[in-house]
Amino acid sequence: MDLRLGWLADVLGDSPTLKLSGQAKEMIAQGEPVINLTAGEPDFNTPLKIREAAHVAIDKGKIGYTASAGTPELRRRVAEHYSEKMGLKISPSEIIVSNGAKQILYNALSVLLNQGDQVAVPVPYWVTYPAQITALRARTIPVIPSQPGWKITAEDLDRAGAGRAKALIFNSPSNPSGAVYTRKELEALAEYFRKTSFFILTDEIYEDLVYSEEGHISLMTIAPDLRHRIIAVSGLSKSYAMTGWRVGFGIADESTIGAMTRLQSHSTSSINTIAQKASVVAFDCQDEVREMSQAFKQRRDILVDALTDVPNISFNIPDGAFYLLVDISKAVDPDKQAGGCWRLAEHLLKMEKLATVPGEPFGVPNHLRLSYSLDEDTLSEGAKRLINGLKSFKG
Ligand SMILES: Cc1ncc(COP(=O)(O)O)c(C=O)c1O
Repeated sequence: MDLRLGWLADVLGDSPTLKLSGQAKEMIAQGEPVINLTAGEPDFNTPLKIREAAHVAIDKGKIGYTASAGTPELRRRVAEHYSEKMGLKISPSEIIVSNGAKQILYNALSVLLNQGDQVAVPVPYWVTYPAQITALRARTIPVIPSQPGWKITAEDLDRAGAGRAKALIFNSPSNPSGAVYTRKELEALAEYFRKTSFFILTDEIYEDLVYSEEGHISLMTIAPDLRHRIIAVSGLSKSYAMTGWRVGFGIADESTIGAMTRLQSHSTSSINTIAQKASVVAFDCQDEVREMSQAFKQRRDILVDALTDVPNISFNIPDGAFYLLVDISKAVDPDKQAGGCWRLAEHLLKMEKLATVPGEPFGVPNHLRLSYSLDEDTLSEGAKRLINGLKSFKG
């Protein structure tokens, strides 16, 4: 009998950033004063009202299975919220609740893709997109933006051959760049999408963390005529400081939601019942969401001010999420460009006790991702350490 694991076990390696973050965690555990700019989650607490609702759910008991797509009450609340926000009539049957935006994406890709299909993914991308595509035996088509600012255009999609794709994953606000598409940019893309026939997964998990005047706009709002091809992905993880609760939402037409629900019923059944009961009140916490968003904006400004005009680095000011993507190519020795972001991240950790994330796994070598999900004083100190570390870095 062949006891070897299957193909996927070899293909999916550990996250390449885990080694560095593991090192940082070890240093912190040993009492070293490491400043951690790697966080992928808000440092705020979940709003009190949601936590209280979870207590009530536990005290009442009767915590059994729920419908796979989510409780009727929560799906109704999600449908109401997004109907209002997107300016569309969305019914509860067009909603699925899954274990975070991550499971929404995996469910969606699983029911969309056949082996060998291609998925267009703009660069830089969240590391999970290509991993999920690979796991489903499909292929990633990277779409490289031609203009500064990390936003793709119709021409970029065309040049990359996105017309051949079965789906596009479109992430705004973006992890890792913080780029947010404007109404005008979305309208231009929608024009292009009308000439194609791929599905569009809009990952909007950072939708309430946007610092531009215009705010976040959903593709579904801009192009309701494309609704049957759009699967909107969001959830409570980032905007509501609820990463550990595992509450994600998918919005799509009934047949897609139906297929995703059937898959989910055979994988995780549903999400945790207590989290579902508590999440019903989440949308009543808009004041808290606004406060957190304002705090992130202030932190972004602190980091941007501290790093503007620093020699050998450059960046675009992010309009959303809580990441700054820094181009470090000028700091890297031109004779040994490969691996520069890893060398700098290691140098910063060793010499300055500053943890950062190398850009390579996001498709952008020679970049570092800095998270500003930290209090303002720590963030200022982190910026100082980065500047110091750059001075002593030999490339
Ligand atoms: C772009 C993006 N999409 C989705 C997710 C996953 O969110 P969740 O925790 O709800 O699964 C993340 C988390 O880091 C993310 O950065």
